[in-house]
Amino acid sequence: MSSSKPSFSDYFGKLGGIPMYKKFIEQFHNVEEFEARPDDLVIVTYPKSGTTWLSEIICMIYNNGDVEKCKEDVIFNRVPYLECSTEHVMNGVEQLNEMASPRIVKSHLPVKLLPVSFWEKNCKIIYLSRNAKDVVVSYYFFILMVTAIPDPDSFQDFVEKFMDGEVPYGSWFEHTKSWWEKSKNPQVLFLFYEDMKENIRKEVMKLLEFLGRKASDELVDKIIKHTSFQEMKNNPSTNYTTLPDEVMNQKVSPFMRKGDVGDWKNHFTVALNEKFDMHYEQQMKGSTLKFRTKI
Ligand code: A3P
Repeated sequence: MSSSKPSFSDYFGKLGGIPMYKKFIEQFHNVEEFEARPDDLVIVTYPKSGTTWLSEIICMIYNNGDVEKCKEDVIFNRVPYLECSTEHVMNGVEQLNEMASPRIVKSHLPVKLLPVSFWEKNCKIIYLSRNAKDVVVSYYFFILMVTAIPDPDSFQDFVEKFMDGEVPYGSWFEHTKSWWEKSKNPQVLFLFYEDMKENIRKEVMKLLEFLGRKASDELVDKIIKHTSFQEMKNNPSTNYTTLPDEVMNQKVSPFMRKGDVGDWKNHFTVALNEKFDMHYEQQMKGSTLKFRTKI
């Protein structure tokens, strides 16, 4: 572990029983009291499930495919991260309070911690999920590149923590299952990263319909082109390269890393995979939720 980094326990506390960045916990009262507006759209994900990709697609929809408009500001200003509160980089609640409607809100909160105001105002919510194995790989590299977060000892160690729910935002299993339950609500749209990778046109059409927008071939083509992995990797307003190395060190691992389904195969050993599969079965037993780990 790098000596400049704090220890895991210095950096994380518990929020509603879930490991969370201490800085977020300090300001969480502002999140709980957050005043939603009826036309807010909330994008919820477990971290590393394709939040930025979906956010950019939604921005393109809201701007009728105007690429230049979407490039006017970085994604974390266009789609503020609700519960994020760091001294120098961003404060989601402050950003959102100052923002004109209609707002697009990003959150990684589990159902039980999302501010009640979003439910009271009947806001639309999109939950994007991704298979656990690719999430844990993406999360591992993300934690290495976010300078302030203490590094796990090894990938194996991180996977163990992930299985135990001892990573920021807690158990992927609980998060995903509880949002899956909520998807019975017609105001909640539940999507899969793997479906987006397999057939982005179909998923963009689904989004347009959910948002009550007209779908033209021209608009859909523009959205698909602008939000491809390569375009977003080269776009400073989506690739997080505007943040200094002291915040995200992209030399350690780029934010736009691989964008694949099945990269886990390059990182899991056979033994770790077997252990993970057993744990997965136990955790997901009885759930109708099915993920694909390859397409
Ligand atoms: P990998 O680390 O597997 O490459 P989030 O935005 O929730 O933090 O998720 C980040 C993950 O989504 C990263 O996964 C990133 O590469 C991937 N991603 C971002 N934009 C993408 C795109 N346009 N197409 C496919 N994957 C994308």
